Amino acid sequence: MEGEVTVHGAKNSALPILAACLLSGGECTLHNCPRLSDVDATLKILRHLGCRVKREGGTVIVHAQSVTGKEIPDTLMREMRSSIVFLGAILARMGEARLSFPGGCELGPRPIDLHLAALKKLGVQIREDHGCLHCSAKHGLRGKRIHLAFPSVGATENVMLAAVLAKGTTILTNAACEPEICDLADFLNACGAKIQGAGDSTISIQGVSRLHGCEHTIIPDRIVAATLLSAAAVTHSRVLLRRVEPVHLESILSVFEEAGCQFRCEGKELEILPPAILQAVKHVRTMPYPGFPTDAQAPVMPVACLAKGTSVFVENIFENRYKHVGELVRLGASIKVEGRVAVVEGVSRLSGTAVQAADLRGGAALTVAGLAAEGITQVWGVNYIDRGYESLEGMLHALGANITRIS
Ligand code: UD1
Repeated sequence: MEGEVTVHGAKNSALPILAACLLSGGECTLHNCPRLSDVDATLKILRHLGCRVKREGGTVIVHAQSVTGKEIPDTLMREMRSSIVFLGAILARMGEARLSFPGGCELGPRPIDLHLAALKKLGVQIREDHGCLHCSAKHGLRGKRIHLAFPSVGATENVMLAAVLAKGTTILTNAACEPEICDLADFLNACGAKIQGAGDSTISIQGVSRLHGCEHTIIPDRIVAATLLSAAAVTHSRVLLRRVEPVHLESILSVFEEAGCQFRCEGKELEILPPAILQAVKHVRTMPYPGFPTDAQAPVMPVACLAKGTSVFVENIFENRYKHVGELVRLGASIKVEGRVAVVEGVSRLSGTAVQAADLRGGAALTVAGLAAEGITQVWGVNYIDRGYESLEGMLHALGANITRIS
């Protein structure tokens, strides 16, 4: 492989920002909005709630003037667990929300206790029955001091969405600091919200009475960038990524550097120069931002599989996030998992076979490993990959990989 590829907009920014469009009285125009099945599912929810939604290439335009819906049906909730981020937005807009409990997903249990505890503090009454959450803020939402027991990304977003139109000021401590939180704050502020401190662990949200429309460009997807870097590293290819935000990639780049890769960075462009022989990475510990992202754990693992020496991964965010390991082993990798720890003994070659993706990032990891494996690798479960990559095979093919989608 060799060449240049443009990194598309971030899924994890697009989803909460699209939910945030519900709060605006005007037209919201979002540029660099990726074409992903998760984004399509989010647009479906917006339409179900009464928004007018239009896509023109990479731009999505949302009109939320005539929102009447308060409920997300179970079928739409099941399509995408992260639609829980609509809870704060619907409550702020309608004063009431009804949605089904997200339950478990590919990554294991997906609790929302932190979301609910925070919303209660803002004055939301919550009733759970028959797998459904009934939430209402009869006396309106009121700003409060809220401390999150863990810097949950989704809970931070839900608090921001609920608090922007609340009476008074909300101070959120131990908030998530992910770049996608900053992007959501930038979008809301462009609509007239008063949010300060996003990107730090304390965020202050001064409620305003209404939000107007705006035009906003979604940040580049740092996990897609990590996946493409991994593909370049395992195939020893020089690849130039366009439209990236290098500061968002610091923890990821340091892992690649430890593996022996070099980087040339200029503005929003990043070129990777991988070594002839990859070196093991002592520890990859997933952490809240600015630590190494859990979403990049699987896509980066093929680098360790093919490196000289032993690498250790510690998954600190999700308890069930090693489903790709068994399939990497089928490709010839040597990996032992014990609880949150995966020990990877580098091997000199992988050999292609049919493998099954069990989740989005695991599917990307198998695709990356397949690029380096001898012979043909078939990756099943491409529907998972489509949730977060705008044609992963198209991006890799453009770089010269021999990859095709069969169905
Ligand atoms: C978001 C991202 C996901 C990423 C994750 C962690 C989106 C759409 N998804 O998911 O890709 O992997 O951040 O960076 O942005 N937790 C609780 N109670 C709660 C909420 C979370 O115990 O109420 C736990 C979770 O089980 C998990 C950890 O906190 O172990 C982190 O979850 P969280 O940061 O909330 O992830 P999401 O927002 O769901």
